[in-house]
Amino acid sequence: MIKILVIKSDNLKKAAEMISKGKLVVIPTETVYGLAANALDGKAVSNIFKAKGRPQDNPLIVHISEISDINKLVSDFPEKARLLADKFWPGPLTIILPKSEIIPDEVSAGLATVAIRMPSHSLAREIIKLSGVPLAAPSANRSGSPSPTCVKHVIEDMDGIVEAVIDGGDCEVGVESTVITLAQDKPRLLRPGYITAEQITEVIGDIEIDSAICDKLKDGEKPISPGMKYKHYAPKANVVIVKGNKDKYADFVNSKTGSKVYALCYDEDIALINGNALSYGSENNFKEQARKLFSSLRHLDELGAKIVYARAPKSEGVGLAVYNRIIRAAGFNIIEV
Ligand code: TXA
Ligand code: MG
Repeated sequence: MIKILVIKSDNLKKAAEMISKGKLVVIPTETVYGLAANALDGKAVSNIFKAKGRPQDNPLIVHISEISDINKLVSDFPEKARLLADKFWPGPLTIILPKSEIIPDEVSAGLATVAIRMPSHSLAREIIKLSGVPLAAPSANRSGSPSPTCVKHVIEDMDGIVEAVIDGGDCEVGVESTVITLAQDKPRLLRPGYITAEQITEVIGDIEIDSAICDKLKDGEKPISPGMKYKHYAPKANVVIVKGNKDKYADFVNSKTGSKVYALCYDEDIALINGNALSYGSENNFKEQARKLFSSLRHLDELGAKIVYARAPKSEGVGLAVYNRIIRAAGFNIIEV
């Protein structure tokens, strides 16, 4: 078994060399940690799928360090994509476009498109530059688990599986990038994130919001983004979303007793809960909730929680990203009180 090697920021060259030799390295980004390999090396990319236990049909995001890097990766870079790149890159926005021939099938999982993003985290961009190649990088969790937002989470999932992780501290955003496809007539939001639908609309006009963001897929339904059909972000505990106002939520949770029962709630709820409670931010601070959600889910497992009753935000602004992740962590198990 290979031990994980934590590389400090002053030692990035070592990590870049590993990547050019076809190895996998976990890198920090502003959203979540990513499990990176040379995106142009199909064999290295296939090892990402093995390390994560990721289904083969779920394509990867390609990370670049300069806007001009995109030119050789896509076969078309339309005006709306340029406008979004100019406005939001570097930053937590992924744009899907028709792919060029140099994208290996392992990256696109056989689709005719490729997802591209230019992260704002300086260490991420530096390592892309030093490697001299674009990096394919999914979130660095084992498939199905909450995405890692600090090195501790990466080690929990990847120790003995991946050789190196670059320590960039805690991720600022905490949920994965916003994903939008411009590879079809009407732009469509496929995954909500820190860059909101409202912000995107200001730049390129109306967009469609994919129904799979908030609703469970029907049996056999094929989503545009293959990742939407898989179980995601789930801790070991059973999570149930409890929709209702603060008082009704507290009454409900207080009626469920047991040492392994937890409330995953807001700061403002804590005083109302009689049993175990963990807050993931203030009620109207969606950015704080986004930053803390995945680490809170992992923390609940450490605390030994078996059943978690969670509050979910309104699905607006960055709240839509939090809502999208937490209903998946709960396997769409939602009750109204
Ligand atoms: O913030 C992020 O985006 C992080 C960091 C590491 O950059 N990465 C990340 O990657 O979240 P991953 O693989 O965990 O999620 C990528 C999502 C998946 O749901 C996948 O199905 C979708 O993007 N995706 C990738 N390429 C696609 C394509 N060509 N068409 C449709 N969906 C695509
Ligand atoms: Mg992921």
